[in-house]
Amino acid sequence: MKTAVIYATRSGTAEKCSEKLSEMLAGESAIINIKKVSSPDLSGYDAVIVGSSIRIGKVQKEISEFVQKNLETLKEKRLGVFLCMGAGEENFSEYLSRNFPKEFLDKCKAKGFFGGDSISRDWDSFQR
Ligand SMILES: Cc1cc2nc3c(=O)[nH]c(=O)nc-3n(C[C@H](O)[C@H](O)[C@H](O)COP(=O)(O)O)c2cc1C
Repeated sequence: MKTAVIYATRSGTAEKCSEKLSEMLAGESAIINIKKVSSPDLSGYDAVIVGSSIRIGKVQKEISEFVQKNLETLKEKRLGVFLCMGAGEENFSEYLSRNFPKEFLDKCKAKGFFGGDSISRDWDSFQR
């Protein structure tokens, strides 16, 4: 099984999570920063995990564009998704459904709520 972990980050959390995740995966994996490689070749991968942080309720635009553009190809793969976010887990499914097509989410075998860094905790309390 060959897996691509495709992520977008603003300040590094989603990158760190991608690295940890990739270490945990069985088989071969590649970590791809979508801001550096905007159209990755998915043909060699059996599985794709898409990850992003949330800013003002949204995933990074490069990640949503990537999913929109490659939806049909992605649907042929084993899929996973994760979010880095400051808000609590009770907001996780809402953020997912606001940011990704239902067709994509329905096919995801794993959905990871990975929390956020310390900035995110400040952000969370700032909002209350
Ligand atoms: C300007 C800004 C806006 C943010 N907006 C949200 C938000 O709307 N909801 C949320 O859950 N977390 C929010 N966060 C927290 C981030 O998702 C969190 O810090 C995350 O770890 C950042 O990941 P990154 O370093 O991969 O970009 C925000 C953080 C910043 C700095």
